[in-house]
Amino acid sequence: MEIVIQPTAEDIASIVADSIEQLLGSHEAPILGLATGSSPLPVYRELVRRHVEQGMSFAHARAFLLDEYVGLPAGHPESYREVIRREFTGLVDITDDHVQSPDGFSAEIATAGERYDAAIAAAGGIDLQLLGIGTDGHIAFNEPGSSLASRTRLKTLTEQTRQDNARFFDSVEDVPFHVLTQGLGTILEARHLVLVASGENKAEVVAAMVEGPLSAFCPGSVLQLHPHATVLLDEAAASQLKFTDYYRYSYAHKPDWQQL
Ligand code: GLP
Repeated sequence: MEIVIQPTAEDIASIVADSIEQLLGSHEAPILGLATGSSPLPVYRELVRRHVEQGMSFAHARAFLLDEYVGLPAGHPESYREVIRREFTGLVDITDDHVQSPDGFSAEIATAGERYDAAIAAAGGIDLQLLGIGTDGHIAFNEPGSSLASRTRLKTLTEQTRQDNARFFDSVEDVPFHVLTQGLGTILEARHLVLVASGENKAEVVAAMVEGPLSAFCPGSVLQLHPHATVLLDEAAASQLKFTDYYRYSYAHKPDWQQL
C-alpha cells in the first residue's frame, strides 16, 4: 500500500486526476470505478476543470458506481446514480449509458448484486477504483463485519452511517436502511485502488485501516490485501499514523518512471 500525504484535498485531487488522465490516455476503453460521498468531490471538480479547460475527454470511458441505496426510484435526487450525474458524469463527455450503478429499485433485489458483478466482469473489470472511507471503517457500503470476500449484495446500514448521511436528506428518517454495495471481494478485483481521505474526523479510522490488523471490523483494512492500492491523505487525516516519516520519505524518493 502506498501512502501519499499532501497539504490539502486539492493537492490530492490533482495527483489523482493525473493518474486518471494517464489511464484515459493509455487505454482504448478505460473503466473507472466511481465513489460518492464528499471525499472524492475535489477529484471530480479537478477532472471537470480539465475537461472544460484542457479538453480532457471521457468519451471512450465507462464507469461503474460502488453502491446505491435500495428503494429510491430512478431519478431520486439522492440516489447515488443521480448524485454522480450531478457532480461528475453529467459535467463531462462520458455517455450516460456508459455509467452503471447497482439497481436499488430492482423487482429482483436479491439477485441484483450478482447481475452487477457479472456486468463489471463482462466489461473487462475496473481499471481504477476511487474510494472514500466512512467513520466506522466502511468502504462503499461494506459495514463492519462484512466478509473480506464479499460480493455485490444487499447490506443494512449502521445507525452511524445513516446519521452521517442524513445531511443529504431532509431528515435521518428519510435515509434508507438498505443498500446494494460492491463487496470487498468485488472491490479487490479492480486493478488499482485509490482511496482518498481528508480531515481530522477520518484520522482514527485511517490509522486503523493502514496500520491496524486486517479485520472485517475495519472493512477498509482489506486494502492491505491489494497489490496496487494507493491511499492519499491530507495532514489531518494522516495525523494518527505512526509510520509517516517513511511514507513521506518513500514518496519523496519515488522513481521517476513509477506512477501512482
Ligand atoms: C458513504 C459512501 C462511501 C463513502 C462514505 C464516506 O457511506 N457509500 O462510499 O466512502 O460515505 O463519505 P464521506 O467521503 O462523505 O466522508
